[in-house]
Amino acid sequence: MEISVTLTGNPKTKPADASALGFGKIFTDHMFLMEYNKDEGWHNARIVPYGDLSISPASTVLHYGAEVFEGMKAYRRPDGEIQLFRPRDNFKRMNDSAERLCLPQLDGEFCLEALKKLINIDRDWVPTAEGASLYIRPFLFGNDPFLGVHTVNRCVFCIILSPSGSYYKEGVNPVKIMIETQDVRAVRGGTGYAKCGGNYAASMRAGEKAEQKGYAQVLWLDGVERKYVEEVGSMNVMFKINGTVVTPKLTGSVLPGITRRSCIALLKEWGVPVEERLVSVEELEQAVKNNTLDEAWGCGTAAVVSPIGELCVEDVPYVVNGGKIGPVTQKLYDELTGIQWGKKPDPFGWTETVK
Ligand code: PLP
Ligand code: COI
Repeated sequence: MEISVTLTGNPKTKPADASALGFGKIFTDHMFLMEYNKDEGWHNARIVPYGDLSISPASTVLHYGAEVFEGMKAYRRPDGEIQLFRPRDNFKRMNDSAERLCLPQLDGEFCLEALKKLINIDRDWVPTAEGASLYIRPFLFGNDPFLGVHTVNRCVFCIILSPSGSYYKEGVNPVKIMIETQDVRAVRGGTGYAKCGGNYAASMRAGEKAEQKGYAQVLWLDGVERKYVEEVGSMNVMFKINGTVVTPKLTGSVLPGITRRSCIALLKEWGVPVEERLVSVEELEQAVKNNTLDEAWGCGTAAVVSPIGELCVEDVPYVVNGGKIGPVTQKLYDELTGIQWGKKPDPFGWTETVK
């Protein structure tokens, strides 16, 4: 499929101070769009000036939340080139999410080609400042203009780009996380493994409660027994207990994070024992009490590797590693960001240059 290009006649001023970027607040000059319907399949692929979308007030996405998305980044290398990190994994997961919501499949290779073309057009927007990157948000939504609850016939796929800094105001400093014991995010058989907007909509109440108590995000428990930890609002979670890294296994209610997968590969490469299994709150409490909870961190595209300095369980705060970043967390952060920003060799072949 051809991708048509219409350039903006009105380019925006790029932010002068990269330290003020924040996360997901500024958007580049262009976006990618294409539409789907059952007769024509995907069609009308185009890069156009960034701007509002026009949809029917009856659109499926507005009423029934038929939407999936991805989050990935483009990084500016020291040699000035731009690279992506495991982009095929993101488009593969987007198709897994779409399958769960009965949205149409995308051609991952075509999406990657469209993304590279879009980044090339907006390449001056890829930040050069330390720690900053171009956050990429592909999303796909059902757009039938009628209210019947039915699988969708019409869809829109869009990619927008946002030069971004750190996700948390804390940067790489440890964040405080609250274990949520009332609301649940997902259950097995539900949509937990899919990256769909509805999962995030349902998480806002607990997130707000945590924020009011001074916590950055919540750590979700399994939806049935409310006994095992699953993941944080925007990242997977890992604990180093007595020398072994343990992380909740992918039971269907946890997002299969690409950063999680990369951290596991790095840890195994370094000979650090890793266990993907159920991790109970009780085990974490015991580990804090025995002094064996060496480190805790979250990992995700937006959050990168984020040390957890405090875990709160039913209003009881547990400080992890004296509230400081631990050595394995630091090593993972350094190695992963080194590969992502092209400052370290990439022995796994995870990165891909945007030419
Ligand atoms: N879990 C949730 C709920 C997320 O939103 C994210 C972010 O995408 C992750 C985990 C981490 O996934 P990834 O490493 O692929 O960004
Ligand atoms: C990401 O890390 O890419 C996310 O999607 C997290 C969040 C902003 C929803």
